[in-house]
Amino acid sequence: MNSSSQAPLLFAFPGHRTIAASLGEASGLRPGEMTLREFPDRESYVRVLSACEGRPAVLLCALDRPDDKLLPLYFLARTLRELGASSVVLVAPYLAYMRQDRRFKSGEAVTSRYFADWVSDFVDGLITVDPHLHRIRDLNEIYAVSSRVVHAADALAAWIGREIERPVLIGPDSESRQWVSDVASRAGAPFTVLEKTRRGDRDVEVSVPELDRWLDHTPVLVDDIISTGRTMIETLGHLKRLGLPPAVCIGVHAVFAGNAYEDLKAAGAARIVTCNTIPHESNAIDLAPHLAEALNDLLDELGQRA
Ligand code: R5P
Repeated sequence: MNSSSQAPLLFAFPGHRTIAASLGEASGLRPGEMTLREFPDRESYVRVLSACEGRPAVLLCALDRPDDKLLPLYFLARTLRELGASSVVLVAPYLAYMRQDRRFKSGEAVTSRYFADWVSDFVDGLITVDPHLHRIRDLNEIYAVSSRVVHAADALAAWIGREIERPVLIGPDSESRQWVSDVASRAGAPFTVLEKTRRGDRDVEVSVPELDRWLDHTPVLVDDIISTGRTMIETLGHLKRLGLPPAVCIGVHAVFAGNAYEDLKAAGAARIVTCNTIPHESNAIDLAPHLAEALNDLLDELGQRA
């Protein structure tokens, strides 16, 4: 265990109090004091109040709606380094800019790569949860610093096992098969993936394979991100038309753009549940112990654990 004078300091961004408390306790971190605010012209003001010389600093910031958070994060990391922190590790339970990993149309910015280059310049390590990896297989392909990825599958499976009677996990499309089958096998539950038959641009039929088998189960939709909610809302509609009972909707990352949360509730979700990677009222699955384990491991690798 760290002595309190050497223990890493945890600088948690606003809104992260609950997860900061569990992460701090599980990793033996001490709270880092800072002031973050905006000047009237909306420039950022950052001040580190804790003595950080010779101590690792851990920054906790979910990077949903990232653009307003990134400059303060950068200023904080730079300040900590100048004040002598022995390392700066970013815990971003939700990692931004993972989608645009290619130039899909001429002239587009490949923001995943630019963002990863920039972040790798001002932190020494990165921890996140289930980043949206599609064409990039591993964070190390774009991030130059050591990283750890926490997988939520175990925690999702445990929650489903505890809370849902006779669940059948449902993936909204074939891309979700791997993800849903993994959670299902950990939960010891059956799963199915919606089948789409496309007859034309606007003529798509969706079906649940072996529908009769699932009519007396509780459908549980599982996805990594709920952003606009359209994927889940469309799927709920299909399930309803097929005569299944209202589904429980589980997402790892509660992005919920605009009115997505209200829209999903209005679409008839029996329950909406997310992990606490982005602070939100739907958070019910705590990943702090997993983040703590990953953090301890990364600090070990960086030689930053006393
Ligand atoms: C797609 O690749 C993801 O796994 C999610 O299905 C998607 O991000 C959900 O987005 P939305 O909530 O906007 O439909």
